[in-house]
Amino acid sequence: MSKEQVRTYTITILPGDGIGPEVTEQAVRVLQAVASRYGYTFNMTWALVGLAAIEAEGAAISDATMQLCQRSDAILFGAIGDPPRGAGLNSNLQPAKALLRLRKELELFANLRPVRPFQALLNASSIKAEVLQGTDLLVVRELTGGLYYGKPSEIREAPQGDEAIDTLLYTEAEIERIVRTAFALAKDRRKKVTSVDKANVLSSSRLWRRTAERIAADYPDVTFEHLLVDSCAMHLIRHPASFDVIVTENMFGDILSDEASMLAGSLGMLPSASFGTRRTAHGLFGLYEPIHGSAPDIAGQRKANPIAAILSAAMLLRYSLGLKEEAAVVEASVERIIDAGYRTEDLREAGKEIVSTQEMGRLIAEAI
Ligand code: IPM
Ligand code: MN
Repeated sequence: MSKEQVRTYTITILPGDGIGPEVTEQAVRVLQAVASRYGYTFNMTWALVGLAAIEAEGAAISDATMQLCQRSDAILFGAIGDPPRGAGLNSNLQPAKALLRLRKELELFANLRPVRPFQALLNASSIKAEVLQGTDLLVVRELTGGLYYGKPSEIREAPQGDEAIDTLLYTEAEIERIVRTAFALAKDRRKKVTSVDKANVLSSSRLWRRTAERIAADYPDVTFEHLLVDSCAMHLIRHPASFDVIVTENMFGDILSDEASMLAGSLGMLPSASFGTRRTAHGLFGLYEPIHGSAPDIAGQRKANPIAAILSAAMLLRYSLGLKEEAAVVEASVERIIDAGYRTEDLREAGKEIVSTQEMGRLIAEAI
């Protein structure tokens, strides 16, 4: 038996809410196509998260599911939340808590969101094709600090009426490890890092800027610049091709990556990967998810674009399972199907064939 055949790969599948299950199903189908073409066995275990888990298990993610995730090589995550159904829940039972707990307890501090528009989709974007030409950027978002986790965070009574507080806290060590991650990634790309902050207003950003500058000195072959977040938002659509790696704190990264997704034509196109420092037998332990949300308004209508989930599965193959060639085959298959003129509803364009979520998944799986 070859070395290849004795390797075992374990993947936890967390489909979640809304369109999460239907797009994840297509990503799993593509993983299964890879397994059968290359003779691998992927041991996949499914579990509930989000509103689905709140309703069935009483928590957005159960301890048992957390343990299952801990024991696997990688996690494939769909999407969570369903605002109308979740409206009455108290703040400890919010579906998003599952994602925040996973990120924090698994120490997944680095979130990679690559944006490389497919040539055939340049006209699908609301931005002019000539502006998009050459765009190939990577948002490196800090994922376990900042406003998402700072305490206190609450709505409380005050003499003049209710007030609310959120806390933006970063330690120098947290900034250092994410900025170092960005530089390490830039070395294998076009060797440019843009650090994004709001140092003209925020203390946390001033520490961010000072720390980023200190680390940049260790990477003399990488071009380094700072941008204020408002200016970055503008430059992203003015001249997206000028960016290589963008590194930023949690909330800025959340907002800028949704903006950047429009460069790729649709929010339904962008995958993401989240890592810490933990390694598996094959690569880095990680969580993979499309950057889009659960879109409950279109759930179950066979309209959702499964490509972000499928490209997330490709990242899973590359980083957590060490299957680089297979990851490239998945990405090439997606591109081939796009080039052949197939589109989901979000990318509707004259002269192109609109297919369902399931058909898009099948076409890509068959192209493997
Ligand atoms: C994302 C999402 C999440 C975030 C939500 C669902 C908590 O928007 O992954 O970008 O804000 O991080
Ligand atoms: Mn987001």
